[in-house]
Amino acid sequence: WAIHAPYVAAINKLKKERGAVILAHNYMTPAIYHGVADVVGDSLQLAIKATEVQEDVIVQCGVHFMAETSKILNPEKTVLIPDMDAGCSLAESITAPDIAKMRAQYPGAPVVTYVNTTAEVKAASDICCTSSNAAQIVAAQDSDTVIMTPDKYLAQNVAAMVPEKKIVWYDGACIVHEQYTAKDLDDFRDWNPGTRIIAHPECPPDVVAASDFSGSTSGIIDYVTREKPEKAMLVTECSMASNISDALPEVDFVGPCNMCPYMKMITLEKILWSLHTMSAEVHVDTAVAQKARVAVQRMIDTSR
Ligand code: 13P
Ligand code: SF4
Repeated sequence: WAIHAPYVAAINKLKKERGAVILAHNYMTPAIYHGVADVVGDSLQLAIKATEVQEDVIVQCGVHFMAETSKILNPEKTVLIPDMDAGCSLAESITAPDIAKMRAQYPGAPVVTYVNTTAEVKAASDICCTSSNAAQIVAAQDSDTVIMTPDKYLAQNVAAMVPEKKIVWYDGACIVHEQYTAKDLDDFRDWNPGTRIIAHPECPPDVVAASDFSGSTSGIIDYVTREKPEKAMLVTECSMASNISDALPEVDFVGPCNMCPYMKMITLEKILWSLHTMSAEVHVDTAVAQKARVAVQRMIDTSR
């Protein structure tokens, strides 16, 4: 902490002077998560919070699609991201014309798009979803066939939860979660009996099936906080365990984890620079933002 303290103090001071609020995803490093964030959460919580902030400036500590969502919901506010290049393999996997192709293949089927996408892709979709409400959103669609984009594994995991729907999916995946295999989990359980294994739904379905619980990043935190297992393996990004381990000394966090190279582009130094220079500002074309807002707002309204 000693090496982070000067940055944390400088950011918190400048944040007040700028009238800014810091919205941080659960994958941020502990120094950001505990030191400078005003709000922490999963994608849905951050999107909902973005509709409630009073401050004129939002600093999004997360990846670009999250900052875009905040801007879509707050066109009049200044939304900053400390590193414009903080992308996401899912967001990069699909374009608006890809959505049009899927619509042509499955005429009349609603398009449920994961928030891990660009504003243009959201604008081409009917409704968004996150990992915490995907099954609920799909179940609420007034159609037997539902198109889910772009995460094929999230779609397959939702298909197991909503068997009454025929779900067709796009071929995207998260580079962090697709690396896990069911064999890794089974081997780990053999070596460490009693370990509670908790997987994010961006993992392949056989990985989710081999786990004890699957949920969004906040769902995972809530589960571990509630259950307090003696040993827990979080099958997700590495900062998750680091961020909650101090508050849960009775839980031994074990097993390998994977780092998201995009999330890790957000650092204290870049947050300070961002507040200092009031950059990099996120812009979304007005017409695109208007359409994308409909898809995001429908999701928020359906998940309340
Ligand atoms: P959550 O909505 O569960 O926080 O997931 C976001 C994400 O990018 C996970 O990889
Ligand atoms: Fe995208 Fe995966 Fe990183 Fe989440 S963990 S931001 S889904 S690449």
